[in-house]
Amino acid sequence: MEDSSSRIREEAERIDEIIDTYLPKEEGPASTVMTAMNYSIHVGGKRLRPMLMLETFRMLATDTDERLVYPFMAAIEMIHTYSLCHDDLPAMDNDDMRRGQKSTHAKFGEAMGILAGDGLLNYAFETAIGSFDLIRESDADDTRKLELTQRIAGALKILAAKAGIYGMIGGQVVDIESEEKPAGEVTMDTIMYIHENKTSAMIESSMMIGATLAGATDREIAQTEKIARDVGVAFQIRDDILDIEGDGAVLGKPIGSDARNGKTTYVSLAGLDGAKSDVKIISDRAMAGLSSLRGSDTESGRFLTDLISGLVNREK
Ligand code: IPE
Ligand code: IPE
Ligand code: MG
Ligand code: MG
Ligand code: MG
Repeated sequence: MEDSSSRIREEAERIDEIIDTYLPKEEGPASTVMTAMNYSIHVGGKRLRPMLMLETFRMLATDTDERLVYPFMAAIEMIHTYSLCHDDLPAMDNDDMRRGQKSTHAKFGEAMGILAGDGLLNYAFETAIGSFDLIRESDADDTRKLELTQRIAGALKILAAKAGIYGMIGGQVVDIESEEKPAGEVTMDTIMYIHENKTSAMIESSMMIGATLAGATDREIAQTEKIARDVGVAFQIRDDILDIEGDGAVLGKPIGSDARNGKTTYVSLAGLDGAKSDVKIISDRAMAGLSSLRGSDTESGRFLTDLISGLVNREK
């Protein structure tokens, strides 16, 4: 039997092929920005968000062609990658390495680092909106077309909101404003707001879009949101731990970034051991939530369970 890490690796390779079909051609007078966009995607990344989206879709879909989710998988990775391009900028975390290579601003200059991020964010929506064409060109009857169109509209709403000021951007704002604040002023409530927004929001978006495009019920989508929130918080606490005791060569990004920027993190408030045990508790809660969701006993349900359990001890 194949172990779960090789299945995850194979799936990431398949996802890369899917994403590649949606990337812009590097041509025309503005080709530098397309080159910088494609560079930032191609240098690597675990593809966790599109993977969660695809497998949540597969777990919950009964009657829908999975190609419907492909443009959204590309879109979520574009938005995530834009958030990394901007997160690494001198004005933000000021990091020169990302995904094992020079970060986008370090490679292409600061202005192009900003524009590549802007380009990825906008192109994500151009790509996701393209999914309406799939429906228009299909031979489904009008009732079915209307139903799928409504699912796409729901997915677009989630994609927009979770990346925005009430989601990922909001989390980044409070993260940046918390830097250099004296110990005591950044409370655990603030850290939870930061983690739930800068990180969970994009994981919620991924899993909720998978569920929405699959035709899941509102209740199932709400359950998915809750599971994803825990996955995201556990994932970010692990990221904070790895910033202290990870291996930069394995991570593909420099460690010690948080300390250098004077950030209070989950680890500085809970301690390393406390943070580690909380990652486990929160991941276990996510897996318990998953086990109560329809489809958790399918192949995709088991894949998701393995994926989430592997995040607890991840080294990258
Ligand atoms: C990095 O995300 C940013 C965080 C939310 C911690 P990932 O660890 O998923 O980065 P890639 O996509 O694999 O590079
Ligand atoms: C960033 O959090 C989350 C984003 C929205 C990009 P971090 O600043 O901790 O992510 P890394 O450690 O640089 O990947
Ligand atoms: Mg940051
Ligand atoms: Mg950072
Ligand atoms: Mg970090």
